[in-house]
Amino acid sequence: MIKKCLFPAAGYGTRFLPATKSMPKEMMPIVNKPLIEYGVEEALDAGLNEICIVTGRGKRALADHFDTNYELEHQIKGTSKEETLKDIRHLIESCTFSYTRQREMKGLGHAILTGRAIIGDEPFAVVLADDLCIHPDDGVLSQMVRLYNQFRCSIVAIQEVPKDQTHKYGVIAGDIIREDLFRITDMIEKPKPENAPSNLAIIGRYILTPDIFDIIRDTPPGKNGEVQITDALLSQAKSGCVLGYKFKGKRFDCGSIEGYIEATNYCYDNLYLKK
Ligand code: G1P
Repeated sequence: MIKKCLFPAAGYGTRFLPATKSMPKEMMPIVNKPLIEYGVEEALDAGLNEICIVTGRGKRALADHFDTNYELEHQIKGTSKEETLKDIRHLIESCTFSYTRQREMKGLGHAILTGRAIIGDEPFAVVLADDLCIHPDDGVLSQMVRLYNQFRCSIVAIQEVPKDQTHKYGVIAGDIIREDLFRITDMIEKPKPENAPSNLAIIGRYILTPDIFDIIRDTPPGKNGEVQITDALLSQAKSGCVLGYKFKGKRFDCGSIEGYIEATNYCYDNLYLKK
């Protein structure tokens, strides 16, 4: 049973400066809810209630968000505003939160390896909070946990992207197992379109088996001089099995201004107004 979900959240969020100068990018709201809260809700919906967050300097707001704020609770007690804290209270009561700090930014692979201290020796999920994934009743992590229970190997979420966008993603190639499932044979981090093995891009949802930690440790820095999870997963795929899963649902790239605005409009119309 997978219980843990890791959120790498140590990055600087430079694309959103100056907003992210002193505020973690994971706290950027989509309508009135921070990005990371959507991710934690998706994890809890999938039965993952041990939340592990890799933070860094200037990221204390994350830990405060998933904690009680007595002064605020006292102020709004008995008023209609209490309703606005219902969702976050539910998360806080249903999950445990553990934190570890990444001291140097050495890439996503390195961030995940930093999480080893709080994950230990068990399979776990990874959520990149700036990929916001929405499905009305079957979250992407729930879909992936079911697949894991069937196949028992690492899984990456994938989506078709236009060929001229491959340089923004890890891109896979693989053998088709069924219409929405590939056994990965190749993966390249942020290839130019002419070098991309397909147009199937990795989206920020992973399920990883714990042997990945030793593999990451032995993975040399790759694209941009950073330790890439994509490279470690390719090693894992070569000696075992890594699946690529075309998930059901919508995905917004909230790491870009355009995607962030698109997500805001979508969530306002489809989630906030319909509540
Ligand atoms: C990371 C991964 C990349 C993946 C992407 C999904 O890149 O390195 O393989 O496709 O997330 O959002 P980043 O967007 O952090 O540069």
